[in-house]
Amino acid sequence: MNTEIIKTSWNALAGRRLEFIEAFYDRLFERYPRYRELFPEKMGAQHERMIEMIGALAQFADHIPPLEPYLSNVGFQHRRTGIRADDVENFKRTFLETLAGFPMEIDPDARQRAWQEAFDEVIIPLFDQGLERGHD
Ligand code: HEM
Repeated sequence: MNTEIIKTSWNALAGRRLEFIEAFYDRLFERYPRYRELFPEKMGAQHERMIEMIGALAQFADHIPPLEPYLSNVGFQHRRTGIRADDVENFKRTFLETLAGFPMEIDPDARQRAWQEAFDEVIIPLFDQGLERGHD
């Protein structure tokens, strides 16, 4: 994961983060309408928590260990949703597609790669760890 690009691109979204997260959920529910009913009707708090999580990842990108309990707990919080690996892939793909729609002065391919790796190397493994703990 290219931590520099993660940080720079999250910083470049300052002032547009809510817009970005809203665009992400709009796209997620458009693609996968069955996910909508899992969420509360009002999505405001959810948007805030997503912004907080991604922000924490960007902030701690150089040194992930202090963030591990938090990220695995996010996975644990999903135990009631019954989600599986392909749902998590759908989430990741939708996030990357949404990001592609927010141009910034960073090489788009390198930026997409950095975020793909953030999901594959950090977010998803820790998320899965917590989710599996919920299935004990
Ligand atoms: C790696 C993938 C995912 C990440 C990083 C993620 C992240 C989050 C975060 C940060 C929260 C806020 C709760 C908290 O802070 O504990 C949350 C809640 C939630 N997520 Fe995810 N999520 C992912 C995948 C999914 C998928 C695939 C679904 C299924 C559609 C899903 C459904 C939900 C639901 C239903 C809630 C609770 C909403 C509520 O009751 O307020 N998540 N997620």
